Parts: sequence; C-alpha cells; structure tokens
Amino acid sequence: MIKTSLFDLSGKVALVTGSTKGIGRSIATELARHGATVVISSRKSEACDAVSASINDELAEHPGGAVSIPANISHKAELNSLVNSTYEKLGGIDILVCNAAVNPAYGPMSDLSDSAFEKILTVNIMANHWLAQLIIPQMRLKKSGSIVVISSVGGLRGHEKLGAYCISKAADLQLVRNLALENGPYNIRVNAVSPGLIRTDFAKALWEDPDTLAVRTENDPLRRIGEPEELSGIAVYLASDASSFTTGQNFVVDGGSTIV
Ligand SMILES: NC(=O)c1ccc[n+]([C@@H]2O[C@H](COP(=O)([O-])OP(=O)(O)OC[C@H]3O[C@@H](n4cnc5c(N)ncnc54)[C@H](OP(=O)(O)O)[C@@H]3O)[C@@H](O)[C@H]2O)c1
Repeated sequence: MIKTSLFDLSGKVALVTGSTKGIGRSIATELARHGATVVISSRKSEACDAVSASINDELAEHPGGAVSIPANISHKAELNSLVNSTYEKLGGIDILVCNAAVNPAYGPMSDLSDSAFEKILTVNIMANHWLAQLIIPQMRLKKSGSIVVISSVGGLRGHEKLGAYCISKAADLQLVRNLALENGPYNIRVNAVSPGLIRTDFAKALWEDPDTLAVRTENDPLRRIGEPEELSGIAVYLASDASSFTTGQNFVVDGGSTIV
C-alpha cells in the first residue's frame, strides 16, 4: 500500500505519559487521528479510561485508537508494568512521548527542600531515562523508533522562582542529545519540544489572572499564550516519517516569546 501522507502513523503504537489532560492529551489524540494506537497513561485510572473512551468514540470508523494503562511514572516498578502491559496488549512501542512532569516548588533555590528537588528530578528526568532504557531495546531490534521529550523554554534560561524545574528541563535537553547520539545508528530518533506558556492546569497560576496574563504576553510576538492543541502538530511531525532526518534537536513552540 502506498502511504499518501508523510504524517501517516497507521500501524504504529505510541505511548504518551501524562496523556489525560493538557498537552499530553492533545498530543495523544492527534497521534491517534493520524492512525496510531495510543496508550493513555497517568496516575488516575478513571481519567485514563475516560480519555481512551473519548478517543475511541471519535475514531470508531478509523484506524487509530486508544488503550488505557495507568501508571505513576515516579515509580520504576510502575513504568516496568506500563511497558510490559503495552507489549502484551499492543505488541511493541514505536513512539514514546515523555510528557508528564511535576513542579511542587515555587521560590528561590536557597529555600528549596531536598525532598522537592528529588521529586522534580525523579519525575522529570529519571523517569524519562528509565522509560528510554525499557523501550529502546525493542526499538533497536526493529531498527526504528521515535522518542519525543517535552521539555520547556524554562530549560533555556535562568529562573528565580522555578529553578529546580528549569534544571530538570535543561537536563531533559541533554538526555535527548545523549540518546540521539547513542541510538542514531539503530535508526531511533530522539527530539525535544520546548513549549512556552500554555493554557493548562499545570501553568494556571501564570495565566488565570487577566492582569498577570496581559503583562506576561504584552511583548510576545503573538501577544497571547498557547493552547494545548498547538503542541500536537510538532509531535505528529516528530513521530512520523516527515521528520526522518531529524534527531537530537529541540523545537521551541512558544509564540516567539524567547526571541524577545
Ligand atoms: N503548560 C505549560 O505552560 C508548559 C510549559 C512548558 C512545558 N510544559 C510541559 O508540558 C508537559 C505537560 O504539562 P501540562 O501543562 O499539559 O500539564 P497538565 O495539564 O497538568 O497535565 C499533566 C499530566 O501529567 C499527569 N501526571 C502528573 N504527574 C504524573 C506522574 N507522577 N505519573 C504519571 N502521570 C502524571 C497528569 O495526570 P494525573 O494527575 O492523573 O497523574 C496529567 O495527565 C510537562 O512536561 C510540562 O513540564 C508545560
């Protein structure tokens, strides 16, 4: 069969962490619309079931679809089960999107507790490293795979209040470069996406007050924050054959805020 679209994901399996809301949900939905079978995963099983059902309802007559497999990515054993259950249900993983992240601390580095720092590094970096370790061996056997790590523009500059989170997001960019180098010879591509401010629950404190939002966006080229759906196009590109010569890169999707 001739593939009519560079962006066709028919027959591919995609695992998206943190895919019950926000950016992860948008990415998973769009990967499924492009033909992939997606694994919807977060800590809450009811939320995973509801999002999977919604995607399956939308795509009833189409190739893509969704299955629900809950997991807390801060526990290595749960990541093991997540990957093994995916293999049992769907046979393998072609696309990994490391999207889930946390930020339990707001304030200067001088006040940061060890427990908050450890939690941020475990969920935002170690879990992505663990998932890559678990999934890459079967991608190597197939000589094919795409990994996308959701970083942040916060990983590109210093920050007075989100220091540990930004350290974790900068480390994600280095993880991407390391994995791209190690796995390029196996035709596994690894890239990062760095969103600017996006209208999700995660970033609510930065956009829910109209005055704060106006100040935050007044000098940005597009004069607005992004919507979760505006991150899904770059994920489809990076997951698909359209990006077959693209690896080790970071794609900033921020309405131009970092050029100002
Ligand atoms: N929104 C922004 O402005 C912005 C900007 C730059 C980068 N980002 C990045 O974009 C990514 C997605 O953020 P978002 O804004 O879409 O957040 P969100 O709307 O709050 O969604 C977060 C998702 O992750 C899941 N999750 C949280 N902790 C988890 C854990 N320990 N294990 C498994 N799943 C977990 C949540 O579900 P449960 O609660 O059910 O587990 C939810 O599905 C993150 O990597 C974030 O750093 C966001």
